[in-house]
Amino acid sequence: MPNLSFKLTTLAQWSEVVKTLIPHLTRPILLLKGNLGAGKTTFTKELVSQLGSTDPVSSPTYALVNTYQTAKGKIYHFDLYRLNSLEEVYGIGIEEYLDEPGAFCIIEWPEVFESELDQGNFHELKIENTQQFRDVFFN
Ligand SMILES: Nc1ncnc2c1ncn2[C@@H]1O[C@H](COP(=O)(O)OP(=O)(O)O)[C@@H](O)[C@H]1O
Ligand SMILES: [Mg+2]
Repeated sequence: MPNLSFKLTTLAQWSEVVKTLIPHLTRPILLLKGNLGAGKTTFTKELVSQLGSTDPVSSPTYALVNTYQTAKGKIYHFDLYRLNSLEEVYGIGIEEYLDEPGAFCIIEWPEVFESELDQGNFHELKIENTQQFRDVFFN
């Protein structure tokens, strides 16, 4: 299980980051952490695109979950920002998505739910946005 990190100064550099990470996405869930505006949805756009999908990627802040079809199977893209309790997260039926065979789940703002997940089942991508850089940590 590699720990990878990247330092970004431009939007275009996401492309190389995603290209490097794709072979390491061996687990069915990716937690995406970082402040508002860090680049979580931008990363997801690039990933979905590099996985061969032309589906439009948008922030699921209000929809809670978006679905994309890719060459590597279905991707469910969650944003739990507006959910405040575990009950609310279970209320959107998240387990059915997470348990779907072959589906890959990306979860923005996963903190409210992450205690429910098995360590070996997910990756984490953390984006730290400072004045000059975006520091990205993956494991
Ligand atoms: N590496 C980067 N360099 C410069 N701007 C970026 C970078 N990554 C993302 N952005 C910009 O930051 C803004 C917020 O990105 P977004 O992906 O919506 O953040 P989040 O989903 O984490 O709230 C967008 O305008 C996006 O173009
Ligand atoms: Mg977002």
